[in-house]
Amino acid sequence: MLLSILPAIALAAWAVGQDHLGQAPLRHTQVEKHADGEGLGPESLRLVQFTLDDAAPVWLTERQKLAAKANNTHFMDITDTPLLGWSPKSCFSYPAPNSTIVRGVLAHLTTAEPQANLEHFTSYHNRYYDSDTGKASAEWLHARIVGYTDALVSKTQKALISAEAIQHPWKQNSIVIRMAPLNASLTDPVTIIGAHIDSLNHDGVLLGAPGADDDGSGTVTILEAYRSLLVGNYLPVSPLEFHFYAGEEGGLRGSQALVSRYENAGRQVRGMVQFDMTAWHKAGTLETVAIITNDVDPALTQFPRLLVDRYYPLTGTHDHVSWTKAGYQTAHPVEGLQEHIHAIHGTLDCIDISPEFSFHHMRQFCKLAVAFVIEVTSN
Ligand SMILES: *[C@@H]1O[C@H](CO)[C@@H](O)[C@H](O)[C@H]1NC(C)=O
Ligand SMILES: *[C@@H]1O[C@H](CO)[C@@H](O)[C@H](O)[C@H]1NC(C)=O
Ligand SMILES: *[C@@H]1O[C@H](CO)[C@@H](O)[C@H](O)[C@H]1NC(C)=O
Repeated sequence: MLLSILPAIALAAWAVGQDHLGQAPLRHTQVEKHADGEGLGPESLRLVQFTLDDAAPVWLTERQKLAAKANNTHFMDITDTPLLGWSPKSCFSYPAPNSTIVRGVLAHLTTAEPQANLEHFTSYHNRYYDSDTGKASAEWLHARIVGYTDALVSKTQKALISAEAIQHPWKQNSIVIRMAPLNASLTDPVTIIGAHIDSLNHDGVLLGAPGADDDGSGTVTILEAYRSLLVGNYLPVSPLEFHFYAGEEGGLRGSQALVSRYENAGRQVRGMVQFDMTAWHKAGTLETVAIITNDVDPALTQFPRLLVDRYYPLTGTHDHVSWTKAGYQTAHPVEGLQEHIHAIHGTLDCIDISPEFSFHHMRQFCKLAVAFVIEVTSN
């Protein structure tokens, strides 16, 4: 199967005028008032930023915020993290890929494991981030990570790995797997791949939302990359992390909580690549790995193309924005043009909705995840 890289897909995200919702200046008293333990009741007030440029954030109720989302607008809920991007960041470059170990690890990737994982992950009624099923799905994922690690880790690798559940003011945890050489410290620049674990039905938070493509697909993609690194006994020379974010659908809340923590600790990031929707291959179209070109780092966005050129026989490019906003370098490969968009954010986003939901296609993103992390963390 030939793949081609679409050179540029500027998705029409963020460019949304919302004057009908009313604007209010950012005032610190308000931030303090609503910052802690707010609960997610429909009338609780949230500070919402619709674009990454200078537009002032607006105060909305949780209900208004989710209504805006159902209307296909993109935003960040910055109530708890209004100040991202206050500190200067290092700038990293991405030399031409030259690793001799990527191919060996790619051989360990399967379609069966991601499929089995996604069958379970989509069996929750929904994975809404402040629900009991959202919480249970994250606990299952954490147990799955620990299970893979216990079953597959080598003695040398074991000392390098931790899998931490990160608690938030809502029910669902985020999860961070860290794989770092013994001589590394927390302030060494880290390479991150991420996906979001929550799902949402736009018609109401109590309704079903299997979230197979958005973003169960990205979740099991980076999980399979992790599994293959275990089987291949990969030992990074610089720190590597896998991030599973809660609360993306509520306005990038889990990722912002992590970014804020990293920024406050003075941590540097070599590159952050987000995997959000990796399974859809529209029938009758050339299979593609697309790259989103807004709100990302240009140098890192070129890098996946180099990786695909090197590691696949080719002729032929969401939570990352939290990192972008703080000034870290990010990229976001995605399944293709957004033809499938009708299926997400509702009960139809499930594995068997169509043969266009493809674990073979997802495998291209597993490869990209493996190639990216090894090329950046192996020398
Ligand atoms: C939905 O979007 C349309 C067009 O952008 C706008 O006119 C309308 O007011 C929006 N409705 C809500 C509930 O945000
Ligand atoms: C790949 O390139 C980097 C610098 O760009 C170098 O440090 C490393 O030794 C090279 N690795 C191989 C296997 O050639
Ligand atoms: C850790 O050791 C490796 C070689 O084993 C070296 O390449 C790397 O620079 C060291 N990192 C630190 C932070 O000392």
